[in-house]
Amino acid sequence: MFNVGKMKLKKFSDEYGSLVPIEETRDIPFEIKRVYYIFDVEEAVRRGFHSHNKLHQVLICVNGSVKILVQNGEEKEIHELNNPSEGLYIGPKVWREMYDFSDHAVLLVLASDYFDEADYVRNYDTYLSQVNNFY
Ligand code: TYD
Repeated sequence: MFNVGKMKLKKFSDEYGSLVPIEETRDIPFEIKRVYYIFDVEEAVRRGFHSHNKLHQVLICVNGSVKILVQNGEEKEIHELNNPSEGLYIGPKVWREMYDFSDHAVLLVLASDYFDEADYVRNYDTYLSQVNNFY
């Protein structure tokens, strides 16, 4: 789907454990201006419900599992994230919802810009009308 893609991150594993390094512009396709993580989410909770006008993000479930629904009015995909060496890239103009957080799930998000509420579209009908003009 346009502006969405699973990414395999390189992982170094040995008898001491595993390590995943992430370097901006090398391992992910943008400079990282912000990092945040979502945790303590009850199983029944669904969150997200927005798109971004300009923001690029990579989502990594560093513990547990979570499902990510992405859609753009034409297509819809559901990605399960359950592997700390796998990322989901979500670019601009993609509606996303996050749900089915497992016990102790931690969803790490790398973002290309500072937090800016003006970059959000939080109403699905508004999103659809904007995205229809965009495509
Ligand atoms: P929100 O984007 O609504 O979370 P989600 O889309 O995962 O449901 O953010 C929840 C709250 O956190 C909201 O009050 C804005 C605040 N927030 C920041 O202050 N900085 C950030 O980088 C993010 C992502 C959210």
